[in-house]
Amino acid sequence: MNTLRVALDGPAGAGKSTVAKRVAQALGLTYVDTGAMYRAVTWKALHDQLDLSDAAGLTQLANQVQIDFKPTAAGQDVFLDGQDITEDIRTRDVTSQVSAVSAVAGVRLAMVEQQRNIAARTGVVMDGRDIGTVVLPNAEVKIWLTASVEERATRRYQELIDKGQEVDFEQLKLDIQRRDEYDSGREHSPMKMAEDAVLVDSTGLNIDQVIEEILHICRQIV
Ligand code: C5P
Repeated sequence: MNTLRVALDGPAGAGKSTVAKRVAQALGLTYVDTGAMYRAVTWKALHDQLDLSDAAGLTQLANQVQIDFKPTAAGQDVFLDGQDITEDIRTRDVTSQVSAVSAVAGVRLAMVEQQRNIAARTGVVMDGRDIGTVVLPNAEVKIWLTASVEERATRRYQELIDKGQEVDFEQLKLDIQRRDEYDSGREHSPMKMAEDAVLVDSTGLNIDQVIEEILHICRQIV
């Protein structure tokens, strides 16, 4: 079981990270949040005031940075060159720019190499957009986790409200739709369901039901 590779892809706000974390815990696998890696590169590019249309500069940056995950009781912390950037990568600024940075071929090559290196050392639940299609095309389990955009926006809205943030629901929904369009329309490794992935639509399901369904799929193949 601990060499199992679970590829968990899907659009923004589908609950992939919460589900991936808990499935990884239940199966004794390492959780890898690939979105956090693209967010980390984006955060660093913004921090260093790089020109986000400079593909060569972004590629160089992606090849230089060291991204690490440290498990915590709540999930995991993200470090870039030793600095804890767990909270910084979730800001609206990073979220609105990450699709442009992750569309750069050189950035993707650097991240995919790191992701494959992790999966070569240990069994993983890896969440992202291109895990089943590009990063781990031979993963034993491939899941495409989705939900209606209305439901995804509602969940994200509630999360932000619970954190005490001010949010506009319609704007949030628009941001999610725009990011999905950008991610699925890009030239390199667009967000796409792998042909051999199992579709899990979490609209109307609670988190425990989604996790149970995915664990059931995983247990069928081990
Ligand atoms: O999963 P999360 O919403 O944190 O991902 C942030 C962004 O990172 C996505 O909108 C997408 O642009 C990019 N991403 C990607 N490929 C992945 C994971 C994330 O392009 N495997």
